[in-house]
Amino acid sequence: MRVIVLYDSITGNTELLGKTIASLFSSQDIVYCGQIRDCNINELPKVDIYFIGSWTNRGDLVLGIKKFLQSIHHKKIVLFGTCGFGGSLEYFETLKNRFKHWVPEDNEYLGCFLCQGKMPLSVKERYIKMIQDHPDDKKLKVSLKNFEEALTHPDNQDLQQLKEFVRGI
Ligand SMILES: Cc1cc2nc3c(=O)[nH]c(=O)nc-3n(C[C@H](O)[C@H](O)[C@H](O)COP(=O)(O)O)c2cc1C
Repeated sequence: MRVIVLYDSITGNTELLGKTIASLFSSQDIVYCGQIRDCNINELPKVDIYFIGSWTNRGDLVLGIKKFLQSIHHKKIVLFGTCGFGGSLEYFETLKNRFKHWVPEDNEYLGCFLCQGKMPLSVKERYIKMIQDHPDDKKLKVSLKNFEEALTHPDNQDLQQLKEFVRGI
């Protein structure tokens, strides 16, 4: 079985998932594991399974990953990713459905794994500033709490669940 693990990760959360997935395969099986920006996607060899990862950008996959997905046909595709907001299965399901939408239908879609991923400190600073300006805004306080909860993710439990998900496939 030949496998590619390709992802877009800015701050390392999605990269950690990608490397964890690759660790489950032998080095002979892994044709490529890395950032989409570090490879020439037109030169990637064809493989049996594509593990494609993205961080969540405004509720969707990042553009480069969307474009790459649309170039894959008649293959098996697994999606994985991280998002800043956690604690809601419903939110995860909404994202998964949105992500799946970018997989051309002539592929065999094998599923999507998502977990929470920490966000940069600048996001917290922005929330604090906004709370100062709008002290009664409950949504902002929930967002600040979520920021703190995200700080430890992806954690060991997330990675364990990811491994189980991949083994299940
Ligand atoms: C510009 C920008 C937009 C984001 N939009 C969302 C979003 O819509 N929903 C969400 O849950 N997280 C969002 N996030 C949070 C990231 O998806 C999250 O921190 C992710 O784990 C980062 O992954 P990386 O470390 O692989 O880059 C956003 C982050 C940035 C920088």
